[in-house]
Amino acid sequence: MNIIKFETQEALNEAGSGIIVSLLQTNPRAKLGLATGGTPVGIYKKLVSACKQGTVSFGKASSFNLDEYVGLDRNHAASYYAFMQEQLLAHVDIAPERCHIPNGMAADLEAECLRYETLLEQVGQIDLQLLGLGHNGHIGFNEPDGALIRGTHVVELREQTRAANARFFDTPEQVPTKAITMGVGTILKAKMILLVVHGKDKAEIVKQALQGPITTECPASLLQTHPNVAVLLDAEAGSLL
Ligand code: GLP
Repeated sequence: MNIIKFETQEALNEAGSGIIVSLLQTNPRAKLGLATGGTPVGIYKKLVSACKQGTVSFGKASSFNLDEYVGLDRNHAASYYAFMQEQLLAHVDIAPERCHIPNGMAADLEAECLRYETLLEQVGQIDLQLLGLGHNGHIGFNEPDGALIRGTHVVELREQTRAANARFFDTPEQVPTKAITMGVGTILKAKMILLVVHGKDKAEIVKQALQGPITTECPASLLQTHPNVAVLLDAEAGSLL
């Protein structure tokens, strides 16, 4: 693992977006695995600026999001579909038909998981998978457990995860109880993984994930088995390393 600590989030965002810009410059058809949550927002802002300035184009790229809430219409402001449109996709030159996200409104959720996993298998390896980190070590929405499901699946969200995400909703009760997520096996197939973490409240889980035992009780610890992971931390998130 290549672990890099940054003094400021500005420097971290610059480095994170720089990695994605370089990838798109060398491989314009790159397949990007994208993440939601507060962490990648600054990186997405820089990507939007780079695209507007003509430094980079998403014209031939495609995107595959990690997860989506079950039961939220894509027009709901807190859906990950809406989040991705607002933070990145609507502001860059990516073709809408090449932007993929699980459909949390599908009548048959199992069939939707299979469709998404099959799509990922058909398009081949994701070139770069961007990841944030949950306070309990989750990646995507793969919550800690005695065993993890390899592929895309429906997951029951932990109360801690619902509480952490309540800030995106009007009331905490509105946070869905389920989500569709790529599995850890799906995530680990990516050619390169870019894990980004901010903040003091994640310092302990960063230490566990990067230096602790490899265990499904901390899904991010499985990233230790991947040959090409870059971890970008702000000073606070990296303070216990
Ligand atoms: C959510 C998302 C994850 C994200 C995590 C951390 O649960 N499903 O993909 O990494 O939250 O979010 P934040 O960056 O807001 O701390």
